[in-house]
Amino acid sequence: MELKEVIGRRRTIRFFLPHRPVEREKIQKMLEAARHSSCVGNVMNVRGVVIWRDQASESLLKALTPPLGYQQMQTAPVFIFWYNERAAYQIDKWIDDLYGLVRARRIGTSVEGTIAEIDKRLKPIFSMGWEASSVSPLAFMDMGLAIAQATLVAYDEGLGTCMMSSPRIERIGKMLNLPETAVPVAVQAVGYPAESWEAGGQTPKPPLGELFHEMSHGQPFEADPAVAEELKDARMCQDTAPLPWRDAELQYLIRALGLEDRILAVEFGT
Ligand SMILES: Cc1cc2nc3c(=O)[nH]c(=O)nc-3n(C[C@H](O)[C@H](O)[C@H](O)COP(=O)(O)O)c2cc1C
Repeated sequence: MELKEVIGRRRTIRFFLPHRPVEREKIQKMLEAARHSSCVGNVMNVRGVVIWRDQASESLLKALTPPLGYQQMQTAPVFIFWYNERAAYQIDKWIDDLYGLVRARRIGTSVEGTIAEIDKRLKPIFSMGWEASSVSPLAFMDMGLAIAQATLVAYDEGLGTCMMSSPRIERIGKMLNLPETAVPVAVQAVGYPAESWEAGGQTPKPPLGELFHEMSHGQPFEADPAVAEELKDARMCQDTAPLPWRDAELQYLIRALGLEDRILAVEFGT
């Protein structure tokens, strides 16, 4: 599939085929996509633990369960537990990663000159701030970029996913043997959609000009209708939810999967 169509087809999937396992190689491709993401100084702070439902204990699945995860936790065969490894930003490692970029000829134009510049100009500044950087908005942006790439590969492979957030997520660090330096971020349910791939239509989003500006805030980015048409043709912009048959599909799904009509798996605050 072309990239623009993958972006267009991606939408959160909450009903999965519980009986259809996800091939190990597809999960590997997702992880490879995350491994090739961009991040600050190439520190690669993104980490994930793959949890196969059929190998997970009841207590682990219970601990993983977020409040807004009833359908996903009942049906998804795989979960990826994503966390931020703060130690990736540790100053000596960060500087080593920068040297690595220099040696790979990815930054700078001369190896010796750039390393001298890093030592003299960057190291003193980064030494003061690396701990704050490891939990800064940029560190979590690193995570988001990696997860976004993994997610798009999942859809390209015919899978669906749902990212899930939970106030309980901190509690499962020990169960997964995470290091002290781990900052749990989110759990992603992965599986073959039980829904049609349309899942009732593309999730509605605010208009472009409401989100993006030009030159200064308050001056909406002006969208060209011809480009919008082009993106429709490329299947990046698709029919918006809900499609007329969505209610019937949802009724069918809860009957076929034996689910209750609810979204909460557990109460908030439990
Ligand atoms: C960080 C993050 C956390 C989310 N947490 C949940 C969740 O706990 N339960 C859920 O059903 N959906 C969750 N979602 C899915 C969002 O509700 C969904 O992405 C949003 O409605 C936009 O829909 P789309 O992904 O189809 O574009 C989460 C998404 C993200 C990115």
